[in-house]
Amino acid sequence: MNVVIRSTGLWKPEESVSNDELVACYNAYVERFNDENATAIERGTVEALNPSSSAFIEKASGIKSRYTIDKDGVLDVERMRPRVAPRPDDEISLMAEAGLAAARQALETAGRDPKDIDAVICSATSMQRTYPCIAIEIQKALGIEGFAYDMSVACSSGTFGSISAINMIKTGMAKSVLVITPEITTPQLNFRDRDSHFIFGDVAIAALIEAEDMPGDAGWAVRGTRMMTTYSNNIRSNFGFLNASEEPAPAFEDRYFVQEGRKVFKEVCPMVIDLINTELGKLDWTSADLKRMWLHQANINMNMMIARKVYDREFSSEEAPIVLDEYANIAGAGSLVAFHLHHDGFESGDKGLICSFGAGYSAGTIFLEKR
Ligand code: COA
Repeated sequence: MNVVIRSTGLWKPEESVSNDELVACYNAYVERFNDENATAIERGTVEALNPSSSAFIEKASGIKSRYTIDKDGVLDVERMRPRVAPRPDDEISLMAEAGLAAARQALETAGRDPKDIDAVICSATSMQRTYPCIAIEIQKALGIEGFAYDMSVACSSGTFGSISAINMIKTGMAKSVLVITPEITTPQLNFRDRDSHFIFGDVAIAALIEAEDMPGDAGWAVRGTRMMTTYSNNIRSNFGFLNASEEPAPAFEDRYFVQEGRKVFKEVCPMVIDLINTELGKLDWTSADLKRMWLHQANINMNMMIARKVYDREFSSEEAPIVLDEYANIAGAGSLVAFHLHHDGFESGDKGLICSFGAGYSAGTIFLEKR
C-alpha cells in the first residue's frame, strides 16, 4: 500500500517574544540578583550572574523570536514563566486545544471529513498529563471513531509519530491517520538559565497521512522512512511523576531542560549526515535528487552544516528552509513546520526529505516524492 502525506495544519500562539524583550527581562533579573547578593558575591560565596545578549543568541542559534502561550508571564521578572490557568476536567485541555486547531486546518486543507479518519496519534516531547491520552481527547473533539494514542520521542516526536502512521497504513490497520504534535515547550524552559533561556517556542503541527487511493489532493508519496536512536544524556529533562515522591524534593528548576550544546552539535551533526546518506543510498537516490530538505529546527549552524555536507556544495535557503528564526526550537514539530511553511514550487516527481534529530539521541527521516 502506497502512503501519502495529504495535508498539514499549523497552530501558533498569538504572542511572540523577541530576543531583545527576552534579554531585557533576563538582564533585569541578573541585576536584581547581583544587587541582592552583593555582599556574598564580594565575599566569594555566591557567584555573580552574567547578562545575556541578543547578539549572542542570534549568532549562536539563529533564533530571533519565539511564540509563547503567555508573553506577560515570560517577561514578568518576578515570574519568568508562562501563566497557565487551570481548567476544569470537562473543559478541553491546553495541549488538546492547540493540537485540535492544527488538526482542523489539516482536515480542511484536505477536504476530509473526521468520519473518514481511522486513528489519531498525538506525538510530542511532553504531555501535560499522563491520562487520558491527549490524542483521545482530540479524537473525541473531532468526532473520530477508531482509536487514538499518545507517544513521545523528544525532538523526533513528529517524524516518529508520522512513521508510526505510515506503517499502520502499510499494514492495512488504517487508511487515514491524523498525526498531531503540539509542542507547548515554554513552560518546560528555565527562563532564569542564561545558557538555554532563549531556546524554545510553542507551536502545534498536524499531518494527515493516508493510503494513496483515498480521494483528494495528490499529496506527497512516502518513498522511504528510517527511525534511529542512540542513548545520550547530553539533552535531558528529569521532570516526571516521580519528582513528587523524591526525597529530598527536587527544586522545580532542576528538573527543566538542560543540555551540553557543544557536545550535541559535535555528535548529532555527523550522525544525521551519515543517516541521510545511508538512506539515500538505499533508495538509489543521491543528494542531487533532493530539491529540498526540511530539517529539524534547533540551531541554524547545525542545519547549515548538515545541508552543506549532504548536498556537498553551497545551497540556497530554499533548499534547506529555516523557520527557527521566527519560531525558535519547536522540538518535535520543527521539521514538519518547515515542511508546512515551505513546500511550494514542487512539480510531480520532485523529491524532498523531512528529517528530525534531537534528544535521545533520536533521528528520523521521511523521504517524499510529489505526486
Ligand atoms: N548570552 C551571552 N553569552 C552567552 C549566553 C547568553 N545567553 N549563553 C552562553 N554565553 C556565553 C558562554 O558563557 C560562553 O562564554 P565563554 O566562551 O566566555 O565561556 C560562550 O557564550 C559560548 O557558550 P556555549 O554554550 O559554548 O555556546 P555555543 O556557541 O555552543 O551555543 C547553543 C550554545 C546552545 C546555542 C548551541 O550549542 C546549540 O544550539 N547546540 C545544539 C543544541 C541543539 O540542537 N539541541 C537540540 C535540542 S532539541
